[in-house]
Amino acid sequence: LRPVSPGRYEITQRVADIEILPGIPTPMWTYDGTFPGPTIESRRGRPITVTHRNELPVPTVVHLHGGRTPAGSDGYPTDLVLPAGWTADHHTMPDPRAVRTRLTRGYTFPLDQRPALLWYHDHRMDFTAPALWRGLAGLHIVRDDAEEALGLPSGARELPLLIADRAFAADGSLDYPSLDGTLRDRPGVRESFRGGVLGDVILVNGVPWPVHEVDAARYRLRVLNASNARHYELEAVTDDQRRLPLVQVGADQGLLAAPVTHATLPIGPAERYDVVVDFADVPVGGRVRLLNRLGTGRTAEVLAFRVARRARDDSRVPAVLSADLPSWDRPVRVRDFSFRTGRTAGGHGWLVDGRPFDPARTDVTVSFGDVEVWRLVADVHHPVHLHLAGFRVLSRGGRPPLPHDAGLKDTVSLRPGEAAEIITRFDGYRGRYLFHCHNAEHEDMGMMANLDIT
Ligand code: C2O
Ligand code: CU
Ligand code: CU
Repeated sequence: LRPVSPGRYEITQRVADIEILPGIPTPMWTYDGTFPGPTIESRRGRPITVTHRNELPVPTVVHLHGGRTPAGSDGYPTDLVLPAGWTADHHTMPDPRAVRTRLTRGYTFPLDQRPALLWYHDHRMDFTAPALWRGLAGLHIVRDDAEEALGLPSGARELPLLIADRAFAADGSLDYPSLDGTLRDRPGVRESFRGGVLGDVILVNGVPWPVHEVDAARYRLRVLNASNARHYELEAVTDDQRRLPLVQVGADQGLLAAPVTHATLPIGPAERYDVVVDFADVPVGGRVRLLNRLGTGRTAEVLAFRVARRARDDSRVPAVLSADLPSWDRPVRVRDFSFRTGRTAGGHGWLVDGRPFDPARTDVTVSFGDVEVWRLVADVHHPVHLHLAGFRVLSRGGRPPLPHDAGLKDTVSLRPGEAAEIITRFDGYRGRYLFHCHNAEHEDMGMMANLDIT
């Protein structure tokens, strides 16, 4: 992806045939004809504009997940980029007079934020899950000088890994069970009311179960779970069944204060982990497999590294990673939000505090600059995401946070029946933002709410 001019990008959303399964074209909805979409790399504090042109057959919305973005560019679910000639009468449609004017839309991102792995994806009301599934997701990496000076593995030894499960019909087309419906009963492909949509093929950067050649050295893996609904618990296992330590250096919103070492790392939809793995003592020719302890059969595998050669390694993992991690105290308010299923006028829904999403309703108003504690409680697994404001996890189930809750997050994966407390300061911009479950099916079925910062 090349900027059209400094700080200005153009992306065309269009249908393209992508070769995901060897030799078979899969028609996908893409950003610029690739899956994942083009990776954007930015510098902290240097604003960019991305103009999106919609050549897909449906309206779209672009959201930069993890971005500290003014509300007008945050991709509100009814803020549509309409395709040419769109005339459908649908309840998510705004004023039809807008139809001719919104074939393209410019999004401005100030990127005045900590360096982090962000991602952009579709966010249209009631239709995010199928749009994500069909391919509308890409990475956006924000960097700065301080992070680069740390000496973490870089260049070819920094690997962004966008992990997503999908299901394919026999002709290679993507099968989204509730709309396409040919694969509902295939083992490993599941659409259930509680779980959301799962696929039986695990893709990493658009490739099923890739094998990546590495040096016998440290690598920085920047992992994103871009799946609609699948949770993973990752571990790195050698041929002789040794687990390599996963040294976490960053979370959703950038570097930790200090590294945290894990044997396994759970990751819910939309979460990111920045992890260093050292292949130095793996014999040349040996493999290290990244496995998913929550999967069965082939969904228990994610990708494999094959150690191709000995090599010199000047990288390091400093004991102190960052000194600018915000930590807030003295919240002015504590609020409670439940994430549960329940009855709605239209039947059953996924609800925040007993209500399905309504773009016309204010659910919470917070004052600009206030520090608040939010207590979130879940019935089943819900990865809860807050736009604009990175937060810290204060507790889970009344206990201290888990080791993988370290650092600044924008998505916290609540386990069944669990409550968690998060703390944040609402600043940056005023306007209407969202918080929601990032299980994409739950989100589309209403588990989303409006947050007005005034
Ligand atoms: Cu990743 Cu509201 O989105
Ligand atoms: Cu977001
Ligand atoms: Cu959910």
